[in-house]
Amino acid sequence: MTFENIILEKQDGVGVITLHRPKALNALCAALIDEMGIALDDLESDDAIGCILVTGSEKTFAAGADIKEMKDKTFQQAYGEDFITKGWERLSQTRKPVIAAVAGYALGGGCEIAMMCDFILAADTAKFGQPEITIGTIPGSGGTQRLTRFVGKSKAMELCLTGRMMDAEEAERAGLVARVVPAAELQEEAMKTARKIAGLSRPVVLMAKEAVNRAFETTLAEGVKFERRLFHATFALEDQKEGMAAFAEKRAPAWKNR
Ligand code: CAA
Repeated sequence: MTFENIILEKQDGVGVITLHRPKALNALCAALIDEMGIALDDLESDDAIGCILVTGSEKTFAAGADIKEMKDKTFQQAYGEDFITKGWERLSQTRKPVIAAVAGYALGGGCEIAMMCDFILAADTAKFGQPEITIGTIPGSGGTQRLTRFVGKSKAMELCLTGRMMDAEEAERAGLVARVVPAAELQEEAMKTARKIAGLSRPVVLMAKEAVNRAFETTLAEGVKFERRLFHATFALEDQKEGMAAFAEKRAPAWKNR
């Protein structure tokens, strides 16, 4: 399968999806979202892949949904086709871990895509925002919900009501971004992090992701109970036996992914 709007590469257990529509600042047109879905299906079903990286160019992660493509849609069309849900939520449903490596603009749908990933590594050039209000609409792929969970009501409200962008340093301080690195080191640092995750026990990585995500969907008591059950479940894995034996024997573990 050849893609026109993304580049898909596989290296050292890591699947890299690079958003690639340079002339439109990686605006997220329907074809790009479809291609990303196909790439994610491929990476999810590939046993050699243990971690996924989503990234853009040096100038832009993604400047949002494609405004030119959507500008003439009627309400009936938008509602009828459940515009923006279809395809977009595929990323948030990915079971394998997904890292967003963001340099430059992550605006509107671009910020939403980054927030659907499990965590964001940002270059010091990154700029995040939900500027939809300035073009007469509001975020349509989770921006008002996920941004608020990341940075709290006051800052999310300010960003959504004004369309102001925040730089990488502010985004890290606010909790949107896991780490900021110099732009020149972003890709290397992101690959290093992804390789580290891909080199761990696959089932245990999936359980850790599932447990953290549960924190956003349930009460503390229920979340802790869910975590405890998964923790217990790790004891049924050969990898738990191997990991703890390796620690006791002062050697590196050899994961079997079972
Ligand atoms: N959709 C379609 N095309 C876009 C685009 C978008 N979101 N963002 C940029 N482009 C295009 C521009 O139209 C331009 O194309 P032409 O050369 O054919 O004119 C090209 O990319 C380069 O853009 P600029 O000349 O504007 O570049 P700049 O460096 O001067 O500015 C920018 C960069 C500040 C990111 C500016 O492009 C911008 O404000 N983009 C729109 C950002 C935005 O409003 N995003 C939200 C979209 S709505 C949404 O995402 C809804 C949702 O919740 C899912």
